[in-house]
Amino acid sequence: MILMRRQPWLLSRPGAWLLKGLAAGEDVSEPVSRLAAAMSTAAISGPAMATAPTVSAISAVSVVSQSFQSRAQGAGGGWQGAGGRALGGSAAGGTAPRRRYGGDPAPAPAAGTGGGGAAAGKPPAGNAPPPPPPSSAPSPPPKAKSANPRMKSFEIYRWKPGEQPQTQTYSVDLEKCGAMVLDALIKIKNEMDPTLTFRRSCREGICGSCAMNINGTNTLACVSHIDQDESKCCRIYPLPHLYVVRDLVPDLSQFYDQYRSIQPWLQRKDLKREAGSAQYLQSVEDRLVLDGLYECILCACCQTACPSYWWNSNKYLGPAVLMQAFRWVIDSRDEATEQRLDFLKDPWKLYRCHSIMNCTNTCPKHLNPARAIIQLKQLLVGLKKKEKPQLQTDALFKGK
Ligand code: SF4
Ligand code: SF4
Ligand code: FES
Repeated sequence: MILMRRQPWLLSRPGAWLLKGLAAGEDVSEPVSRLAAAMSTAAISGPAMATAPTVSAISAVSVVSQSFQSRAQGAGGGWQGAGGRALGGSAAGGTAPRRRYGGDPAPAPAAGTGGGGAAAGKPPAGNAPPPPPPSSAPSPPPKAKSANPRMKSFEIYRWKPGEQPQTQTYSVDLEKCGAMVLDALIKIKNEMDPTLTFRRSCREGICGSCAMNINGTNTLACVSHIDQDESKCCRIYPLPHLYVVRDLVPDLSQFYDQYRSIQPWLQRKDLKREAGSAQYLQSVEDRLVLDGLYECILCACCQTACPSYWWNSNKYLGPAVLMQAFRWVIDSRDEATEQRLDFLKDPWKLYRCHSIMNCTNTCPKHLNPARAIIQLKQLLVGLKKKEKPQLQTDALFKGK
């Protein structure tokens, strides 16, 4: 009936004949081909096909004939199992029938022309090759999980406004948890304590939002493996020396304000001339200079591991911000180098760095903010000069 509603042309005389033949188990492939050829040249009446292009009509005929054959020959597998999807495939314009879950598994698709799993979602072609024989190599058995729970403690900093800070300990079965600390946090939040608060987004070390202090090190929870030693407690705190909004969520407003202060965008002298009219040229060598700088995800792990930043966070810009300042200073396309360096000429913004190297040691992206800060200092005192760009964007505007 679903088919009748979706393909009303089947109610025409050839369609009724086709249904009759299929129900009787006759081979209807040749008459169907003839019917398809006739339809490709004639106008097709009926609401479902009124606006469909000719090629869709042919596909629909092919799908209908195959599905009916699979139903007639395939022990009914085409309607309830994966075979049913062939009928509901996009070419026929229908929707897949709802699959039954629970109880017995869906019947195996019929061999040969049946609308089996291999044809799921794709109308089988009339002369499609037979499906490949099943591989003789046995698939490896699934890794057996130990039946014994392996409980590990997670001690987590908890605080919400108006209450005393405290730590709370949760027990997590490592057998039922993902490999990363973020997996454990998500499990605790989902299954034990929905009030636990933390930031996360990408869960693959890209967004920087899950930065926290894990066992004494600032890092990203999503790329930190859980220590599988159950006797050791995993201690999780927010990034240090920042105000806490709640639990593991630090207030990063000051960090973002400092980042904004270095104007982290490309600056050109003649923007009016260039905006939207040409690309900025940069040689491969000039671009390589940015490697190790542009990868920073602004997670603030280094920033909050720096003792100088702990004591002077209101005046010292900190390693993450200074590394980004350097990234824009040495970009061959940027023309605000002098203004940028002038901004940093200050006893506090840059010179509070004493090369303690905590920042480089903690960076989860393995970057080196301390080296960038040293190079900034060299540029400021004239020990180093910014190279001239190898390609000049001005060349694109000659004669304009
Ligand atoms: S090298 Fe400089 S920025 Fe890095 S931790 Fe030490 S003082 Fe802070
Ligand atoms: S330098 Fe490393 S630790 Fe610092 S903000 Fe960037 S990615 Fe994070
Ligand atoms: S969730 Fe994005 S870096 Fe961890």
